[in-house]
Amino acid sequence: MKFFIDTANLDQIKEAQALGVLDGVTTNPSLMAKEGITGHDNILKHYVSICKIVDGDVSAEVISTDFEGMVKEGEALAELHPQIVVKVPMIKEGIKAIKYFSDNGIRTNCTLVFSAGQALLAAKAGATYVSPFIGRLDDISTDGLNLIAEIRLIYDNYGFETEILAASVRHTMHILECAKLGADVMTGPLSSIEGLLKHPLTDIGLAKFLEDYKKGN
Ligand code: E4P
Repeated sequence: MKFFIDTANLDQIKEAQALGVLDGVTTNPSLMAKEGITGHDNILKHYVSICKIVDGDVSAEVISTDFEGMVKEGEALAELHPQIVVKVPMIKEGIKAIKYFSDNGIRTNCTLVFSAGQALLAAKAGATYVSPFIGRLDDISTDGLNLIAEIRLIYDNYGFETEILAASVRHTMHILECAKLGADVMTGPLSSIEGLLKHPLTDIGLAKFLEDYKKGN
C-alpha cells in the first residue's frame, strides 16, 4: 500500500518524508489556501517545492471545469515536473479530459469520487488514480469504507489498472481498514500515519527494558 500525505504544508511533508515511508503527496485548492498559497505563479512554484521534497507522485488540481480549460491547465501542470499527476474532478468534462490525458501520456487522479459508478467511469477513461472520499461519506452517515470494497471488486472483476487512492482519510483506523480492503494507496494527514506507530504496550515495554538495563549497568 502506498502512503500519500494530504497537505500542502512543506514542514509536514518534510517530516513524513523523513520517516522514510512516504510515496507521494495530494493537494487540493482548499489545502493550498490553508497554507496561504495564492496566485497562479505562487501555486505553481509551491508544487515544484513539494516535488523537490518528496520521492513520488504529487497531485496538482485543475481549477477549470470545461474540457479545453482542463486540458490547457493540466498540460501546463504536467510540464512543471515529472512527478506531477493532474487532479481532475469527477464531472462530465473531467471524464473527457481524463481520457485525453490518458491518450497523451499524462497521468491523472480523478477526484471527488463518491460512488462506485463514478469510479467505474474514471477507470474506463483511463485515470491513473481514482480518489473515493471516505471521510466525507462518513460525515453524511454513509459507509465510506464500503465504497472502497465496491470499487476493489469492480476493478478486480475487469482487471482495471486504475489505482484506488483512498482519500479523505481522517484517522489511523481508516488506513488499516483500507489496507484490509485492498486500497492501493491512502492519502491522509500526518497524524493518521503517525497513529500507526502508537501502542501503549510498546511504551510500557520500552520503559521496562530501559529501566532493567539501568539496573544492570
Ligand atoms: C484528496 O485528494 C483530498 O485532498 C482530501 O483527501 C480531502 O480530504 P477532506 O475530506 O479531509 O478535506
